[in-house]
Amino acid sequence: MRVLVTGSSGQIGTNLGLRLLEQGHQVFGVDKRLNPWVDNAYPTLLQDLAGHYPAYTGGIGGVEYPEVDLVVHLAAHAKVHQLVRQPHRALENAIMTFNVLEYARGRDLPIVFSSSREVYGDVHRFEGYDETVADFAFTESTYSASKIAGEAFIYSYARCYGLRYLVFRFSNVYGRFDNDLQRMVRVLPLFTHKLLRGEPITVYGEDKTLDFTYVDDCVDGIARGIEALASGRVVNETINLAYGQGNRLLRAAELIAAELGVDADISVEPPLLGEVTHYVADVSKARALLDYDPRVPLDEGIHRSVAWFKEWRAAHPAEDIAIVEDQDRAAGDIPHGFKQPASAGR
Ligand SMILES: NC(=O)c1ccc[n+]([C@@H]2O[C@H](COP(=O)([O-])OP(=O)(O)OC[C@H]3O[C@@H](n4cnc5c(N)ncnc54)[C@H](O)[C@@H]3O)[C@@H](O)[C@H]2O)c1
Repeated sequence: MRVLVTGSSGQIGTNLGLRLLEQGHQVFGVDKRLNPWVDNAYPTLLQDLAGHYPAYTGGIGGVEYPEVDLVVHLAAHAKVHQLVRQPHRALENAIMTFNVLEYARGRDLPIVFSSSREVYGDVHRFEGYDETVADFAFTESTYSASKIAGEAFIYSYARCYGLRYLVFRFSNVYGRFDNDLQRMVRVLPLFTHKLLRGEPITVYGEDKTLDFTYVDDCVDGIARGIEALASGRVVNETINLAYGQGNRLLRAAELIAAELGVDADISVEPPLLGEVTHYVADVSKARALLDYDPRVPLDEGIHRSVAWFKEWRAAHPAEDIAIVEDQDRAAGDIPHGFKQPASAGR
């Protein structure tokens, strides 16, 4: 198959692109930045997908794309708290999705969309969240809003124009290709980086319990979805793709410290504004429809992630520098550490 992957220079895009190549597919990437980890594994167009482009069926923004069979739309501003501080980026996410949908509509291409567990909000009402319980009245953050908007566009295109889709709701994907310094705001690589350097770390949310998904499990699920959607076997479904188990973020931090063999200096603060503090996915639909079978529990995933991180760092010693967190924060933004208000009305 020929697969167009947007966001192909990101964490999931890089892992997915390599996996699809291994499986014998052709990959065409689109991203606004160069891939920080792999060179020329597949052709990649550097393009900003968030522009306001006139309709053009050959590709987005008047650029002629190669013929493809299916689109995987991963490109997004993917950091929750960054979008709370900079809500215009949430709008850009919606514009990117709109552009990709218009392209898919013009070429009659099926699409896989990367949504998030964020669409469930922070409601603490369920043991395991199945796909039916998402409720936009609980939109937790502007990032969540951008994913809900993306899903809504997808469903409306299916109804109005016969779009074929799969929506995947990911949750805390971690593992290789998530450590680029400029954007190191993902929590597990940030902890690894800091603990390796003997720096203190902060866990926002003592009891924060999340469903951490090792990237190989995530990519395995997407690859299964691509095959199922392309063959017409599974069409127009929304599916949780996670490990299916809750773990405290504090435990993840401790596992990283243990793996690195360091005494961690961990402080605990209240969760940040807009964050989900409890989520455990019900992945039975993915199991039933796609034979999805996540295999990497958190302790094993952290073992592999830390091993990869150390190997990468050994080959790139210049990256052993202090991280300026929230580099994209501008004056006037909500300060980092802004406390969550009382959750009235939940
Ligand atoms: N990683 C997770 O834990 C997780 C969880 C839930 C949902 N998701 C979603 O999955 C998708 C992939 O996530 P990821 O972890 O690989 O994120 P990532 O940030 O590593 O990758 C996203 C990529 O999109 C690109 N991009 C951003 N704006 C763009 C633009 N205007 N034009 C072109 N490219 C642009 C970025 O350059 C980046 O390479 C995202 O949509 C994200 O919201 C991820």
